[in-house]
Amino acid sequence: MFSIIAAVGKNNELGKKGDLIFHIKEDMQFFKETTTGHTVVMGFKTWESLPKKLPNRKNIVVSFEEIEGPDECVTDLVQFIKDNENTNEEIFVIGGGSIYAQFIDHAKRIYLTEINGEDSEADVFFPTFDKSKYKRTVLQKGNSGKLSYEMCRYEV
Ligand SMILES: NC(=O)c1ccc[n+]([C@@H]2O[C@H](COP(=O)([O-])OP(=O)(O)OC[C@H]3O[C@@H](n4cnc5c(N)ncnc54)[C@H](OP(=O)(O)O)[C@@H]3O)[C@@H](O)[C@H]2O)c1
Repeated sequence: MFSIIAAVGKNNELGKKGDLIFHIKEDMQFFKETTTGHTVVMGFKTWESLPKKLPNRKNIVVSFEEIEGPDECVTDLVQFIKDNENTNEEIFVIGGGSIYAQFIDHAKRIYLTEINGEDSEADVFFPTFDKSKYKRTVLQKGNSGKLSYEMCRYEV
């Protein structure tokens, strides 16, 4: 099964110029705790934005070309989704925007850190989804400087 994990601003902002917009320590910790020990799937641009492979996780990178560095490279995303959608293993989809858009209809859970901030220069956004179809649970909340945030879990 697929779980999406992402952090978004008020307008679903995800990133700008190849990097994250909001850098909230508690959210980084939440991401680490939630994904450690699991498989993570990401697009090539997100992979490129990381300083190194995410430790203690199987790193799968989606790219149209085979690349070296991650534990596995996926070039046929449709087949990958078919093969893994109904497994018991929780596979975390960690971005970016193009990858979230292709997984949004296949994810049973969406861990969304909703940040009360915005950035008019954002160039990548989380896809819209029908929140009324999901049960929303607030797992954690807090403030970081002027920003307030809630870590939510949406489940079908
Ligand atoms: N806020 C958050 O939670 C969060 C999380 C992650 C990332 N981000 C941000 O999101 C931005 C990156 O997102 P993005 O949408 O630009 O890029 P991305 O989704 O990370 O990667 C896009 C790349 O993935 C590959 N790809 C996508 N669909 C594919 C398919 N169907 N088959 C094969 N390969 C496929 C292609 O790689 P090739 O070009 O190699 O073929 C494509 O160029 C950055 O700013 C990053 O910081 C934010």
